[in-house]
Amino acid sequence: MLQIKDLTFDAWGRRFFDSATVTLPQNAKVGLVGRNGIGKSTLFKLIMGELTPGGGDIGIPRNARVGQVAQEHPATPVTLLDTVLEADLERHDLLTRLETADPEDMGEIWARLIEIDADSAPARAAEILIGLSFSQEDLARPMSHFSGGWRMRVALAAALFSEPDFLLLDEPTNYLDMEGALWLEARLQKYPYSAIIISHDRELLNNSVDYILHVREGKLDLYTGGYDDFERLRGEKARLAAATRVKIEAQRAHMQSFVDRFRAKASKAAQAQSRLKMLAKLPPTSVSIEERVAPFTLPSPPRPLAPPLIRLEDVSVGYDGKAILKKLNLRLDLDDRIGLLGVNGAGKSTFAKLIAGALEPMAGHMHRDRRLQVGWFHQHQIEALDPTDTPLEIVRRSLPESSESARRSKLAQWGLGFDKQETTVANLSGGERARLLLNLVAMTAPHLLILDEPTNHLDIDSRRALLDALNDYSGAVILITHDRSLMELVADRLWLAMDGGVKPFDGDMDDYAKLVLGRAREAAKTPPKEKPAEVAAPPPPKPAANPGQVGPLKRKLEAAEATLARCTSEVAEIDHALSDTAIYLRDAARATELAAKREKAQARLDKAEAEWMAAAEAYDAASAGV
Ligand SMILES: Nc1ncnc2c1ncn2[C@@H]1O[C@H](COP(=O)(O)OP(=O)(O)OP(=O)(O)O)[C@@H](O)[C@H]1O
Ligand SMILES: [Mg+2]
Repeated sequence: MLQIKDLTFDAWGRRFFDSATVTLPQNAKVGLVGRNGIGKSTLFKLIMGELTPGGGDIGIPRNARVGQVAQEHPATPVTLLDTVLEADLERHDLLTRLETADPEDMGEIWARLIEIDADSAPARAAEILIGLSFSQEDLARPMSHFSGGWRMRVALAAALFSEPDFLLLDEPTNYLDMEGALWLEARLQKYPYSAIIISHDRELLNNSVDYILHVREGKLDLYTGGYDDFERLRGEKARLAAATRVKIEAQRAHMQSFVDRFRAKASKAAQAQSRLKMLAKLPPTSVSIEERVAPFTLPSPPRPLAPPLIRLEDVSVGYDGKAILKKLNLRLDLDDRIGLLGVNGAGKSTFAKLIAGALEPMAGHMHRDRRLQVGWFHQHQIEALDPTDTPLEIVRRSLPESSESARRSKLAQWGLGFDKQETTVANLSGGERARLLLNLVAMTAPHLLILDEPTNHLDIDSRRALLDALNDYSGAVILITHDRSLMELVADRLWLAMDGGVKPFDGDMDDYAKLVLGRAREAAKTPPKEKPAEVAAPPPPKPAANPGQVGPLKRKLEAAEATLARCTSEVAEIDHALSDTAIYLRDAARATELAAKREKAQARLDKAEAEWMAAAEAYDAASAGV
């Protein structure tokens, strides 16, 4: 059990926690959510004792082990398997003692080793590493053979393997591919002790946690359920608060007018006085307007080029004369929305480099309009930022001609307010950095946006804002993401990088999830030998229609459809609850409440229907070429 009581913390010119109190149940899996920059990572630092609260305390049971993913994961000569095994300090210690122990102590050491199931440790460690996309052969290779990103995964594996009483994970899916993320989802569900996971990943938050801990306005609110439950409960709470606010405001206005009228009259002065006192006692009705995130602006390309944007004929591409991808035969059209799938190392980034023009084909032919402008966002850009740089400096370099106030207002538009514009990159939160770079990449209004894991670090509302912006953007998009819901909402077509090629994938995201999970299971059972999964023939070519127009309308229609479905099921759910006639007898108040809820839900449904009709008409008209 973790108990946070009256936690107060001030830093960097603002208050992060203001008398925040919460108790987390024993062995709970908790998703820690909140706006970018609100202080989630800061809370972890407070729990770990790396920062000291200004007031209140964080109570953790004595002797409880708190573990997080090590920030340092050096390139040592130790093998991956041993690195993970060593994270179980007790086992490591027992084994070391065994080597020099007196015979009479050995029995005790053995007994403890059996108790902690030390025998199965290598198998357990291997299972975790393989789940995180390492191969059997990798396990025996030294840490120094792997890049920083992969060593980070080993650090995650070590944290999971050591099974602390409190496992703290800060956006773990950011450095995983989709298969790693899927595996982690399942793993966290089964985690035997408490875990707090900072995440902006809706799927993970729906599938792996039993509680959501929301950081907002300096407080910590605990909700039961996953992210969807949290959103619904929070909506309810906000509506209730709004209703109460209206009531209190009416009361306040009524009393105030009484006081105003009678204050001057001596005979009524006493009454006016008492009303004044009551007025003072009314609870403050802080207007809690939902904090809004800044939208993304993805300027559309000024003039469409002649189709196709890119055509690949038998293209091979790779490094140092060695092809990574071979025989690529693909075409990319003006308003294509491609979702690029594939495990890490399958060549997605190499493919992105080829398309972005950063890598030349080694063989075959690539047709690419010379005027083609590509905006390419990828994670290495974030890592490559100079930690001492500031947003203002960066924009100054990108917009040398603009005035200082124009640059500042640009940054503010991007969601980086005045106070953040001169904060060093090192001190920006993950989300703040990602926002800055995404906007920089899109600023030039490219014909094609290649977005390689664009939502890593972005909070959920910012992801939605990005989705909206993508829907409005008229250029082509190649999206690489492990955020399944984003992929489903953005991609019209899926391409799969696998077995040295990139080919259209004939299936949806569920099919893909099944494919990779199946493969992972296979890999865990039978060491090497990868079985190539069957890739179906490419889908028939899309009918050409008014380019630049139809794409955004179609996506709007799809978005409207999703909203309509949600509203419909909301009403149906309430109807279902109301169909239980016993509820009227048992809990009349609840029944009234439900009836009121239904009215509101119906209103939302009506609105959604109207919006859907409008979107459908617009889409039909555009695709008919009117
Ligand atoms: N040393 C520092 N100097 C100035 N500002 C800082 C410093 N460290 C953190 N901040 C600011 O504190 C805020 C909270 O940071 P924190 O990393 O806790 O956010 P977060 O909730 O984890 O956000 P994200 O979801 O983007 O990771 C950010 O706005 C960040 O810019
Ligand atoms: Mg953070």
